[in-house]
Amino acid sequence: MKTNIYVLCGGRSVEHEVSLKSASAILNALDREKYNVYPIFITKEGIWCNLGLLEHKIENVKQLQRTSTNTISNSIGEFLTNQFKQDERNIIFPALHGKNGEDGTIQGLLELIDVPYVGNEVLSSAVGMDKVVMKDIFKKYSIPQVKYTHIKRNIWEENEELAYEQIEKEIGYPCYVKPANSGSSVGINKVDNREQVIKAVKEAFLYDVKIIVEQEITAREMQLSVVGNEHPKSSVAGEFILERPFFDYNAKYIDGTLIPVVPARLKPEVSDKVREMAVKAFKVLNCYGLARVDIFVTDNDEIYVNEVNTMPGFTSVSMTPVLWGATDGTTYAELVERLIDLAFNRYDQKKSILNSRCIK
Ligand SMILES: Nc1ncnc2c1ncn2[C@@H]1O[C@H](COP(=O)(O)OP(=O)(O)O)[C@@H](O)[C@H]1O
Ligand SMILES: [Mg+2]
Repeated sequence: MKTNIYVLCGGRSVEHEVSLKSASAILNALDREKYNVYPIFITKEGIWCNLGLLEHKIENVKQLQRTSTNTISNSIGEFLTNQFKQDERNIIFPALHGKNGEDGTIQGLLELIDVPYVGNEVLSSAVGMDKVVMKDIFKKYSIPQVKYTHIKRNIWEENEELAYEQIEKEIGYPCYVKPANSGSSVGINKVDNREQVIKAVKEAFLYDVKIIVEQEITAREMQLSVVGNEHPKSSVAGEFILERPFFDYNAKYIDGTLIPVVPARLKPEVSDKVREMAVKAFKVLNCYGLARVDIFVTDNDEIYVNEVNTMPGFTSVSMTPVLWGATDGTTYAELVERLIDLAFNRYDQKKSILNSRCIK
């Protein structure tokens, strides 16, 4: 019997469009001999639509949108209960990024309906979305990172001056001001002085009730993909480099384009060290399935973990599949297959723990 795979895409986050691209690539990679493939489109308003059995490949992301004949429901609970047939083999691939996608909310829902799903669970997803909690855990496990502090909005509102003094005393300039739960660099600013910090703090509080302020580091940022459950493995590191900006006819700078370099230019011993660190970061956050770990490496090869992304971009040109291709020749389709296997293994493991307790 074929497995039914439901690929969730779109969603209410600012990363709606990226999600559609990731989902298209996943949908196209799935073997139709093995799977019944169902895209489930979530509108920007949060309405869920089952687009029905997808027999062919997606040629345009617009196909992943709602038509008048799609099943729709305003109640997620009602929608989900009607989708999954108890006696069939089902799995869900939440190809969703950012808020309501990789922050544990969807994962909680999927736990409740008791269907295996790809990737991180509630705990790691939620922790990975909160930069302060994530860094507090890194600190507990001595994972190297830049100095940071956090401020809650009510504290700042009570005494702004005190908040700025805290930043200057604990971190100093230049520093980065970020909403605690940001993604895609939204609301993030680098600041050099009091005037700029006032503006940046105000902006960051537009996105969250908690902000994080970090010491600036001059370094290259490495990206590593970690895949696995109990015994996760790290890919080689990759990095983006800015192609030299050039002058146009009016002698103005034109933005350079970011190009991926894989493997990143690192000494072998530094490469080994960042790969080990990526696995450690994955483990301490209780990650399952996959994550992308971003690590700063300075000119004198000091390393500082920046963050863990629990549902990284997954288009065919995203860093994650490119990194695995460069590491051991894994193809995109093989990577998707591996993530599905890991999801079933983890689901069975959780079920067997539950069953062994029930027998006693
Ligand atoms: N402390 C820092 N020092 C130097 N650069 C930073 C620092 N924090 C963030 N950056 C830069 O800003 C980018 C976005 O910050 P990041 O924390 O990764 O946010 P997001 O979750 O939006 O990806 C990073 O990729 C890096 O280039
Ligand atoms: Mg980042």
